[in-house]
Amino acid sequence: MAIQEDNLFKNVISHSKEYGFIFPSSEIYDGLSAVYDYGQNGAELKNNIKEYWWKFMTLLHDNIVGIDAAIFMHPTTWKASGHVDAFNDPMVDNKDSKKRYRADVLVEDAIAKMEEKIQKEVDKAAKRFGDSFDSEMFIKTNPRVLEYSQKIANANARLKESMGNGDMAGMKKLMEDLEITDPVSGTKNWTDVRQFNLMFSTEMGSIAEEANKIYLRPETAQGIFVNFLNVQKTGRMKLPFGIAQIGKAFRNEIVARQFIFRMREFEQMEMQFFVKPGEEMKWYEFWKEKRMKWHKALDLGDENYRYHDHLNLAHYANAACDIQFNFPMGFKELEGIHSRTDFDLKSHEKYSGKKLQYFDTEDNESYIPYVVETSVGLDRMFLSILSKAYTEEKLPDGSERVVLKIPVPLAPVKVAILPLVKKDGLPEKAMEIMNELKYDLRCFYEEKDAIGKRYRRQDAIGTPYCVTVDHQTLTDDTVTIRDRDSMKQERVKISDVKSQLIAACSINNILRKIEQ
Ligand code: GAP
Repeated sequence: MAIQEDNLFKNVISHSKEYGFIFPSSEIYDGLSAVYDYGQNGAELKNNIKEYWWKFMTLLHDNIVGIDAAIFMHPTTWKASGHVDAFNDPMVDNKDSKKRYRADVLVEDAIAKMEEKIQKEVDKAAKRFGDSFDSEMFIKTNPRVLEYSQKIANANARLKESMGNGDMAGMKKLMEDLEITDPVSGTKNWTDVRQFNLMFSTEMGSIAEEANKIYLRPETAQGIFVNFLNVQKTGRMKLPFGIAQIGKAFRNEIVARQFIFRMREFEQMEMQFFVKPGEEMKWYEFWKEKRMKWHKALDLGDENYRYHDHLNLAHYANAACDIQFNFPMGFKELEGIHSRTDFDLKSHEKYSGKKLQYFDTEDNESYIPYVVETSVGLDRMFLSILSKAYTEEKLPDGSERVVLKIPVPLAPVKVAILPLVKKDGLPEKAMEIMNELKYDLRCFYEEKDAIGKRYRRQDAIGTPYCVTVDHQTLTDDTVTIRDRDSMKQERVKISDVKSQLIAACSINNILRKIEQ
């Protein structure tokens, strides 16, 4: 069944709550804006995504090691990284709706609308001219398209300039010139645009006078930079090499309305790849391609991924792009790949007074390495998987089911063990099988309700296999294995069940695909 995108998002959100994937944080107190808790199935899925990333980075690359740095860091870290002075978003309020927005996002949305208009003109002309249509020529010559293209180029240039110079008056003027209206009130009654720093701060120390203002890290990357030499020296790492890390990050987002897409507390999986200066563009291209392969190996549909080059580079980057994913609300950033130059290490060297250089034994010289970073949001990975896995199906017998077609190795529960009935020794036999499988696979045992109902419940949490113990089991030591997606059942000897399921559920099945 095709589901409308709007409905899909709503259904995914309510399904994930109903089936123990995601709950609003502190819900009994009416929740906390843009903060979510992962339930029993969500935590398992999240752990499996982490495993997929961690194994890819650290097992498949013998020059990448993983660390786990503290969330709290010396406050000077954030001065050196530029976050105290430059980690701002331009904020604007609509005086009528009282809603708050990011001004740059409003401008980007307006640009996207103009791009859609161009596409509409192209589609219309393609229909009119049929096979003889030359879209490239049309885009270059059609007056209306040319006018939109000019407007887009102009808006992009002004956006880049305003963001780069922190020119908030220029940003407001751009909003006015683009005639941006509030999607809620429909008016152009905007406040001035102001800079808003996204870092959360707190105090460390028990006595007020001694307390020091510290920040909750807005990215995990800085924990890697400050440990660069510790890891390089103790691990005797040679360039190029990488340091990987998974951990929480915190941002006081201005607009945080899209479920787990934009949260105030979230998790990142980041890797800093240290390279010889001058080689960074080669490695930037290398990681762009590798990371895309990692995503596509999940089989959520190649058409759902695309690159998006950054026009407005962050203060630390000389090249940057996103891997965007086709979320229920459209193509949005899933992962960032950034060539961060030597900005961070150089700045930490300056602020700390400690040398952060690498001695290159081949060239017999010391230098600050350049860095290529890959940074993917764990929660956005979760949303990408959940939103594509969520399927409403009409079955041949007229009934309906909701099934989560989560990639098998990532599914929260791998096998449900189900005795057909609650008597005749079937539960005992089922428990025997469960006790054999539970060391290798996350199992779930259930004997209550009719078997069809139990299958539906497992479909709804994405369990790829149901092992059913029936009366025949008692006579010939076989069970049926039901496949979640095809719903087909296969009769298998109990002695073969374990090896068959372990092989089918191994995360290596996806990892191997990346290397192909
Ligand atoms: N160290 C570089 C860095 O932090 P970023 O593009 O700001 O770069 C990287 O963030 C990734 O972190 C994003 O691609 C996104 O997946 C995730 N992310 C960023 N802000 C987020 C938020 N508020 N909620 C959830 N995920 C977020």
